[in-house]
Amino acid sequence: MEFLVVPVVLLLASCVLSLDNGLMRTPPMGWLAWERFRCNIDCLTDPKNCISEHLFMDMADRLAEDGWKELGYQYVNIDDCWAAKERDSQGLLVADPLRFPSGIKALAQYVHSKGLKLGIYGDLGTYTCGGYPGTTLDMIDTDARTFASWGVDMLKLDGCYSNSSEKAMGYPLMSRALNATGRPIAFSCSWPAYEGGLPPRVNYTLLGEICNLWRNYDDISDSWESVRGIINWYGAHQDVLQPAAGPGRWNDPDMLIIGNFGLSHEQSKSQMALWAILAAPLFMSNDLRTISREDTYILQNKLLIRISQDPLAIQGRMILKGKNGIQVWMRPLSSSTMAIGFFSQRADMPYHYTTSLSQLNITAPRMFSMLDVYSGRGFHNLEFDSKFTVTVNPSGVVMLYVYPGEQQQQQLLNRRPEAYPVLM
Ligand code: GLA
Repeated sequence: MEFLVVPVVLLLASCVLSLDNGLMRTPPMGWLAWERFRCNIDCLTDPKNCISEHLFMDMADRLAEDGWKELGYQYVNIDDCWAAKERDSQGLLVADPLRFPSGIKALAQYVHSKGLKLGIYGDLGTYTCGGYPGTTLDMIDTDARTFASWGVDMLKLDGCYSNSSEKAMGYPLMSRALNATGRPIAFSCSWPAYEGGLPPRVNYTLLGEICNLWRNYDDISDSWESVRGIINWYGAHQDVLQPAAGPGRWNDPDMLIIGNFGLSHEQSKSQMALWAILAAPLFMSNDLRTISREDTYILQNKLLIRISQDPLAIQGRMILKGKNGIQVWMRPLSSSTMAIGFFSQRADMPYHYTTSLSQLNITAPRMFSMLDVYSGRGFHNLEFDSKFTVTVNPSGVVMLYVYPGEQQQQQLLNRRPEAYPVLM
């Protein structure tokens, strides 16, 4: 009988879809070209901003030299429009020879030499959304091997130009093909966004098994309307979305657009705070060569990053949608800490919001303190019923980090995330 057992076990093993690559135990952080640089391939008139190897080398330099990498921003990700319009004579994907003359492998080496990781973009379908060669079902293994041979660390697989049943076959197959390369390659799936983002058309259990992150909803663009629409969609569907997230599997509300043109200062703070509460991937799409100090300060906020990267890896929820236009969001964190965000949908003037944890139905430690992650203001020695007041600006947020007992606020604000004491 024994000789039968081995083939059965092998058969079972090959049927297991699990991505199981051990990657992204906390939400990934880095930079992604699309929202800011789109499909600008005009390197003749716009050499600094076109999709070329120089753009990605510039961003890698900035991530490595301007303090981003140390904070966790480690991926440099290519999006659409990097490829030549045709596959090569052997049927392999190749980078556009004029814009990426050194090739993706050399770019990966450059990025790795800076201590960073390189992500690339593909599309399950005949073409990418921008009209470049896509990955049809028969090319999945080939393209996975090509990406691995280049030393790529992450793949975003888009879903233009394929139908639902091709996607249902292709995404699990690509997950398996990436695993089979033997190279750890994180897998970002755009699949659910093409299926309306909700069950029954989307199976979040399956996604958690085959992808590290997935786009659920519409593309972000450079406007507050877009960011607000995304936040509200995640709030409206949180009962479905929130349980799907966990270590190695994340809902992706799309890129951070802080540093571009469409958001005010308050709105930029709101995007960063909400993305941290949502345990969202933090991929900035901006120009790190010219970003202002003010925006850098938001994106490099250590306490917010600590909240985003909390090891409990629980996505937060909207716990209250007040008639006063203030939404209250909460994310439970490790060591009996939590983050509470007061997010304004108002358009009049700063709103003074008085409440207590008991009023918010939040279980609190016997005595606790809170820290406003942006202003640094501390609230000390509060109890369950203690009233406190936050002032929330129109379209802005007040984000509080809540922790048991007393703690020196300076200590929390100034340390690197990994150096924080474990609060019991
Ligand atoms: C789709 C994706 C975007 C981007 C573009 C590229 O719209 O959702 O994130 O990758 O394609 O063409």
